[in-house]
Amino acid sequence: MNPVQHPVVRIQQLGDYVDQTVTLRGWLYHKTGKGKLNFLQIRDGSGICQAVVLRGNVSDETFEQVKALTQESSLAVTGVVKAESRAPGVPGGFELDVRAVTVYQIADPYPITPKEHGVEFLMQNRHLWLRSSRQWAALRVRAVIVRAIRDWLDSHGFLNVDTPILTPAAAEGTTTLFSIDYHGEPAYLAQTGQLYNEANIFAFGKVYCFGPTFRAEKSKTRRHLQEFWMVEPEIAFCDLEGLMEIEEQFVSYIVQRCLADCGPELAILERDTTHLQRVSPPFPRIHYDEAVAMINRAAAAGELVPGYPDPVPAIEWGDDFGSPHETYLAAQFDKPVFVHHYPTQVKAFYMEPEADRPEVCRSVDLLAPEGYGEIIGGSERMSDPEKLIAAIARHQLPQSVYEWYIDLRRYGSVVHSGFGLGVERTVAWICGLDHVRETIAFPRTLTNLRP
Ligand code: 4AD
Ligand code: MG
Repeated sequence: MNPVQHPVVRIQQLGDYVDQTVTLRGWLYHKTGKGKLNFLQIRDGSGICQAVVLRGNVSDETFEQVKALTQESSLAVTGVVKAESRAPGVPGGFELDVRAVTVYQIADPYPITPKEHGVEFLMQNRHLWLRSSRQWAALRVRAVIVRAIRDWLDSHGFLNVDTPILTPAAAEGTTTLFSIDYHGEPAYLAQTGQLYNEANIFAFGKVYCFGPTFRAEKSKTRRHLQEFWMVEPEIAFCDLEGLMEIEEQFVSYIVQRCLADCGPELAILERDTTHLQRVSPPFPRIHYDEAVAMINRAAAAGELVPGYPDPVPAIEWGDDFGSPHETYLAAQFDKPVFVHHYPTQVKAFYMEPEADRPEVCRSVDLLAPEGYGEIIGGSERMSDPEKLIAAIARHQLPQSVYEWYIDLRRYGSVVHSGFGLGVERTVAWICGLDHVRETIAFPRTLTNLRP
């Protein structure tokens, strides 16, 4: 039987071809056999399907070929699509009753087998690890998150205006800059597109940039990458309260889209979606002062941080939160929680100080439940040129490279706000993953530049 005589379909389309003969092309994921029956689990990128090879239904030569197949061998199988509710696979429910097989390549012994490997080995073999079902599932959820981000913003009046990656100035502190040589002039990889977004709102009103951002983070944590993707909306005529309303709508939409569109993927990841189902506006809002009081009450009582062996560490007013603080705070609520009005001294230079209390600023972070920590950072921006010049000086930044940014406050300054949502932390949260390294195809961590 010649495979080209039949429709070549992908596994996700099998439901449209029940009782018809089709050809699938892919890779062997797993094989079991006894006597005259062989069960092939075949991946084709869109799903996993069981193909049943019965001696007698295929030529003897094909049957012998099938017995010799190794994991990851590439092949085409032609057969009849059967609706079989117990059939394993993704999405499952269909299997292929095989009549012909074409082998493209018998794979060498595959280094990643179902048995456990250490993370270091898996990271070195990331180019192969990507084929495993959990990695496949997480990256498919990531793609849906990215689609949901764009769909929500595009349908709420935001214009996508992308910002440069090669930049002459710091925006999020000088300690995490990646320096490069720009034809003899020092330059940096962008930590954020925000400053350029702020210029763009004066032309377009509501904008977003969406791209890779870079931070030379010296610490090795579950939440930090050197290169990560951030979507940054920026809005003219928007204050801190307006910003929180946008954020809670946006995040709720992303979560609900994943629940609607990623059922099979979340099942592979064994994600308990109870928490996610509750994600809808409004989200609780707490002032930094209140957050500090909550933390210090728990510390005094010796309460444990959920998921940590240690008690909640006390905090001094004015300090930034560590992961245990964020985890403890988020665990006190059943939805993501906003913490607003952080101390001015721990935040970036461009944040608007509170008018009658300048030691706190009109900033807001969104903390995800279940220990995932900060997924959004944002604020109202300073809109007065003189205050901004003073803040640039206080942070010991060179005013000359920020002149254009100060100009934005000289020509039609308005109250404006924006935020950045980290894609990898959002994927980790929605998928229930322990570490952000599994949320991007080729993660750049402190210790991983290869492959
Ligand atoms: O809080 P951050 O630093 O905010 C900004 O960069 C602002 N300029 C955004 C804005 O207002 N337009 O970063 C925003 C988010 C964090 O909440 C986190 O989700 C993610 O970006 N993020 C990281 N993700 C992975 N690895 C890192 N090293 C990250 N640093 C920040
Ligand atoms: Mg932040």
